[in-house]
Amino acid sequence: MEIHDYQKKEAYIHTLFSSIAHRYDLLNTILSFNRDKYWRRFAVAQCGLEPGGCGLDVCCGTGMFALEQAKAVGRQGRVVGVDFCEEMMARGRQNIARTPYKDVIEFVWGNAMDLPFKDDTFDCATIGFALRNVPDIRRTIQEMMRVVRPGGKVVSLELAKPRLPLFRQLYYLYFNGLVPLLGRLGVGFAGPYSYLPNSLKSFPHQEEIRDLFEDVGLKDAVYYELTGGIVAVHVGTKPTTQSE
Ligand SMILES: C[S@@+](CC[C@H](N)C(=O)[O-])C[C@H]1O[C@@H](n2cnc3c(N)ncnc32)[C@H](O)[C@@H]1O
Repeated sequence: MEIHDYQKKEAYIHTLFSSIAHRYDLLNTILSFNRDKYWRRFAVAQCGLEPGGCGLDVCCGTGMFALEQAKAVGRQGRVVGVDFCEEMMARGRQNIARTPYKDVIEFVWGNAMDLPFKDDTFDCATIGFALRNVPDIRRTIQEMMRVVRPGGKVVSLELAKPRLPLFRQLYYLYFNGLVPLLGRLGVGFAGPYSYLPNSLKSFPHQEEIRDLFEDVGLKDAVYYELTGGIVAVHVGTKPTTQSE
């Protein structure tokens, strides 16, 4: 992708999330049949976080993934959510203010491909439903790996491509047909939820994302398919030495 294509994609994504921020959480719950919470919980369970630990959630949006991390690190821990869309983070601040973790989670403005943090800062870095949205997936994973301490985890939760033929066909009928329609009813205009099926079509298969994790230098890269493979959780570990 050329630089100006990067900028075009970023501008498009930024406008898209600014326009749906007010309905994002509700539509997530409806369209996923409330599975999104379980998916985030599963992903955070792979992060190796301990009470008092320090996690990062990249593309944090309305803070729901950061909230799951906060439950794992507890009131003595710290979680930073980073996103480039102020409207999404404003919703996130409201969401978190109603929880016991309002002093644990901090929202920071920043770009996933150029994270505003020093090397080796966090125990883990997660990204939820957002690798599809960044112009450069490799660079985003590299940035996540850079800011995680050696031995820490990089974890992605993302829509995936189910394998089982009949299930896959039924799911794509729902995902390509009904989701854009329900999304349109939810936000009041077409566009954002029509982008969703298209963004999955051009996104690499879960096997390729695992290979990319390995390729950038993450150890023990694995992935888990959840709910019939409609989402996948990828996990990799930052090596503790250069030669590892
Ligand atoms: C689908 S939402 C996911 C929100 C949240 N992670 C969740 O689990 O619900 C995608 C988020 O990624 C953010 N985003 C997309 N590209 C980004 C980038 N290059 N840098 C920072 N944030 C980005 C959007 O602003 C949006 O809030």
